[in-house]
Amino acid sequence: MQPEKKDKMTFKEEIQRRRTFGIISHPDAGKTTLTEKLLLYGGAIHVAGAVKSNKIKKTATSDFMEIEKQRGISVATSVMGFEYNGYKINILDTPGHQDFAEDTYRTLTAVDSVIIVIDAAKGVEAQTRKLMEVCRMRNTPVIVFVNKMDRPSRDPFDILDEIEEELKIEVRPLSWPIGNGTDFKGVYNLHEENLYLFHPNKQTIEEGISLKLSDSKLEEEIGESLAGTLREELELVTGVYPEFRKDEYLAGKLAPVFFGSALNNFGVRELLHCFLEIAPSPRPSHAEEREVKPDEEKFSGFVFKIHANMDPNHRNRIAFVKICSGHFKRNTNYKHVRLGKLMKFSSPTAFMAEKKSIIDEAFPGDIIGIPDSGNFKIGDSLSEGENLNFKGLPSFSPELFRYIENADPMKSKQLAKGIDQLMDEGVAQLFVSQFNGRKIIGTVGALQFEVIQYRLLHEYGASCRYEPINLYKACWIESQDSAELEDFKKRKHQYMAKDKFGRDVFLADSAYMLDMARENYKNIRFHFTSEF
Ligand code: G4P
Repeated sequence: MQPEKKDKMTFKEEIQRRRTFGIISHPDAGKTTLTEKLLLYGGAIHVAGAVKSNKIKKTATSDFMEIEKQRGISVATSVMGFEYNGYKINILDTPGHQDFAEDTYRTLTAVDSVIIVIDAAKGVEAQTRKLMEVCRMRNTPVIVFVNKMDRPSRDPFDILDEIEEELKIEVRPLSWPIGNGTDFKGVYNLHEENLYLFHPNKQTIEEGISLKLSDSKLEEEIGESLAGTLREELELVTGVYPEFRKDEYLAGKLAPVFFGSALNNFGVRELLHCFLEIAPSPRPSHAEEREVKPDEEKFSGFVFKIHANMDPNHRNRIAFVKICSGHFKRNTNYKHVRLGKLMKFSSPTAFMAEKKSIIDEAFPGDIIGIPDSGNFKIGDSLSEGENLNFKGLPSFSPELFRYIENADPMKSKQLAKGIDQLMDEGVAQLFVSQFNGRKIIGTVGALQFEVIQYRLLHEYGASCRYEPINLYKACWIESQDSAELEDFKKRKHQYMAKDKFGRDVFLADSAYMLDMARENYKNIRFHFTSEF
């Protein structure tokens, strides 16, 4: 579908033309570079000539936080919207660093599809594997971009085998590389039956040469030997891999694969065009109460991310709301479902690359930023009155724990406020020990402890210190058998804590202890995510 450009679009057309997706990869595979190139297509950023990634990185449009600059890893998840060929594209950027995986998991709940970037020399790496698990859980359609073909790469068949095996998804190459490294000549696009020739260091977007594989012009373009190899390999491709079927892609069962070089802007446009053609427009969302379809008349949405102080001059937070249904309008009363109160938003913002601007309306698939002074938590829903609670935003069982203590007695209020707000943002989880009343921070990555300390100091003027605590895992417990539950809580008093919502959490200090507890208390369920 190529949406027509019209001045006035119907509600349904607005939904149809939206593509909201995330780019995921292991750090360094080229996610930032690919994002920047996609933004260039949309004219959302303008960088003259060759885009050097280190140059871009310094002004990276996808990184809001100071800490990011210090560490060179993408901490914040940001949103980049742009228009291209009549489509409204929303890219949700995700931190690649594993310590921020939870942020990424949550962002994946707000996307309708995903592009996975894989380094052609390294293949599937740890972080990609983990993120793909989240996509699989949600049947998110994925397209794979095998990047850095301009560098010595692995055999494409090898890479495809690895993707199938490690990411547990069927693959279908829609483009095929001709050589790699210094011998990289380009790709043959099976989808379009076009040959794209690669010219290193030339950033102009070349037109494909429309050419059937059997055409003898192929020899003229890439030489006899490479033409022979290409034909052989593609024969094998057609023999081995299933036909590309859009319905299987949409069901999250089949991943089309493209090859290219993001740095050289090679293969990116083909990827983008295919993506626009096949990727889903906003899909239904699941609330506890029912399924919510995007084309329902009434507005609904949920908060999947909260970010504090993106602009250091304003201390406000921004709640990122994914619109699930209906037509969102500025200055209109909507219900904050958890608080049960009506709220009006006078300055909702849209994110167009690095710029934020106030908008009057938004449609399903869009992400809007709502300035917030503390009303929102991750997972909160907004509606036109109906009690909808959107699912799929669990907290994950943390694995690293430390006691957090106030290091500056004059600033205890600031510390409490800072901790509270950072937890609302989902930076980490706070547990209060039922045994000694001390506060325990649980995270999925070690870096979060530093982020918390840094942010408490820079955003709240509070200083904290950590003390070690030896814990293995935190899990949420529940049972129908209240007597057994009470007995467990009494016996394990030393290891019991409450989470932010007052739910019971068992802090096991070893795998053995957890196994024993499960063995001995058969009627108690131990959960590793907060949503059960
Ligand atoms: P990430 O967001 O997934 O972490 O990766 P990023 O885009 O930052 O890319 C990581 C490195 O890989 C960068 O180099 C980038 O220039 C390089 N890169 C990305 N795409 C390609 C490609 O198609 N070919 C080649 N040869 N390199 C590519 P760096 O040295 O870490 O940074 P910089 O100093 O070049 O910016």
